[in-house]
Amino acid sequence: MFSFQPHIHIFVFLFTAYNVHALDTYIAAVYEHAVILPDAATVPVTPEEALMQMNRNMDILEKAVLAAAEEGAHIILTPEDGIYGWRFTRETIFPYLEDIPDPNVNWIPCTDPQRYGRAPIQERLSCMAKINSLYVVANMGDKKACNASDPRCPSDHYYHYNTAVVFDSNGKLIARYHKHNLFMGEIQFNQPVEPELVTFDTPFGRFGIFICFDILFHDPAVALVSRLNVDTVLFPTAWMNVLPHLTAIEFHSAWAMGMGVNLLAANLHNTSKHMTGSGIYAPDKPVDYYYSMDTEDGRLLISELSSRPRLSPSNSVVNWKSYASSAKSFSPDVDVFNGTIFFDLYTFTRLVDAEGDLTVCQKDLCCHLSYRMVKKRDDEAYVLGVFNGLHVVEGEYYLQVCTLLKCKNLNLATCGEPTENSLTMFEEFSLSGTFSTNYVFPEVLLSGVQLAPGDFQVLIDGRLISKSRISTKPILTITLFGRWYEKDPTGQPPKLF
Ligand SMILES: *[C@@H]1O[C@H](CO)[C@@H](O)[C@H](O)[C@H]1NC(C)=O
Ligand SMILES: *[C@@H]1O[C@H](CO)[C@@H](O)[C@H](O)[C@H]1NC(C)=O
Ligand SMILES: *[C@@H]1O[C@H](CO)[C@@H](O)[C@H](O)[C@H]1NC(C)=O
Repeated sequence: MFSFQPHIHIFVFLFTAYNVHALDTYIAAVYEHAVILPDAATVPVTPEEALMQMNRNMDILEKAVLAAAEEGAHIILTPEDGIYGWRFTRETIFPYLEDIPDPNVNWIPCTDPQRYGRAPIQERLSCMAKINSLYVVANMGDKKACNASDPRCPSDHYYHYNTAVVFDSNGKLIARYHKHNLFMGEIQFNQPVEPELVTFDTPFGRFGIFICFDILFHDPAVALVSRLNVDTVLFPTAWMNVLPHLTAIEFHSAWAMGMGVNLLAANLHNTSKHMTGSGIYAPDKPVDYYYSMDTEDGRLLISELSSRPRLSPSNSVVNWKSYASSAKSFSPDVDVFNGTIFFDLYTFTRLVDAEGDLTVCQKDLCCHLSYRMVKKRDDEAYVLGVFNGLHVVEGEYYLQVCTLLKCKNLNLATCGEPTENSLTMFEEFSLSGTFSTNYVFPEVLLSGVQLAPGDFQVLIDGRLISKSRISTKPILTITLFGRWYEKDPTGQPPKLF
């Protein structure tokens, strides 16, 4: 495992030395929830009706909390939009919102439910945590009154925030995070003025929290790790899968590895919206994950994790371009063609032989691949691809990507289109690139949209390489997904770090 921070070890040591009850490991639970959607209303329902709708989901979440507690879990994470879904306008979300106070008020809603007005959802979450004696993490809506003295105040005199809340094992509200990077279509919510960096300390490490689309940007996601040294990130999400590079389990496990932290990811489950994929990810490998397009059921995952993964002796800093910059034996391939992946214009070259060394470049990013297939198949086509530019559809973010992928079919115009199955196995691979960024997320996705825990590793010279076990499993894609945050358009500069 590895991370970008050279000074972590000392910091974490000091922190743990103060913590007499420190645990070396803990049990984490994440629940993928098939949320019950209220009817898509055009006029607001009453607060009582909204509560009834939410309680249908709360009943299911409560069972998951109970089951996790019985297995000894210290913390359980539930998904974004897990209590009421996503189909709202500003008006129709309003009866679902509660006023969530700043956690420093020291409040246990379970024992003092009326202190900040009507708060039945916070009360119920707090009681779940207290009764079962574990940390409970959920996503709900916060409302904050504002008025004309504030020029940003919406015309309905409330800010609405997509909000993550954490209750500790006594039922106390200990963290509140307002989502910063709202996804397109989240018209029911407002963006906070500044990104919030929310952390809390436990006997099993320091936690940070952000929500869904936040994971693609520097703030608050990267800042929590690089500046505030969290051990585990809590990541409630309502993630719609996009192959080949942005399927939930693939990208989220890669983020944990690239950042050198644990990541708990809880997704919603709705196959018609392509929402599935939750996991318990350690920096060196996914410990447990769930992906299923075959059922409409949720799933509870429970696994043990290291409390302070950054203390691991194998945690070292990767120089992502070191190998690729000195790999003089490669000369760029002349036989290249253009293709598109999720609206980005890639340069591709085909893997013609059963083994070989290939290079493709776009501007100053060159990607090198050395590979050996178990057997070259006539019925499947693979390409090496590179993209070095600003992605502009459904959000703007600068990418540097090196990718090996299976084309949908033998027609090379289909390379980069979503495809879920393959038959070609690789005995060996080594992928590297001359990245300009230190933030590179290594992805390996197998046929059937499955992860390959422990089957690959990243060397400190920036090579993503196979371990021997991989050769029995057909590959869909092997990717170094780089994010060059400094090149993002204004509005997303890394201003906190
Ligand atoms: C509304 O404005 C008044 C002064 O104009 C202020 O006293 C009051 O606190 C404000 N209310 C809110 C919710 O901001
Ligand atoms: C999944 O979401 C869609 C709305 O996008 C909804 O119509 C459908 O009922 C949901 N599926 C389930 C099983 O709830
Ligand atoms: C690929 O697209 C770029 C940009 O549109 C163009 O300049 C280039 O000629 C194209 N290359 C090929 C091989 O078609």
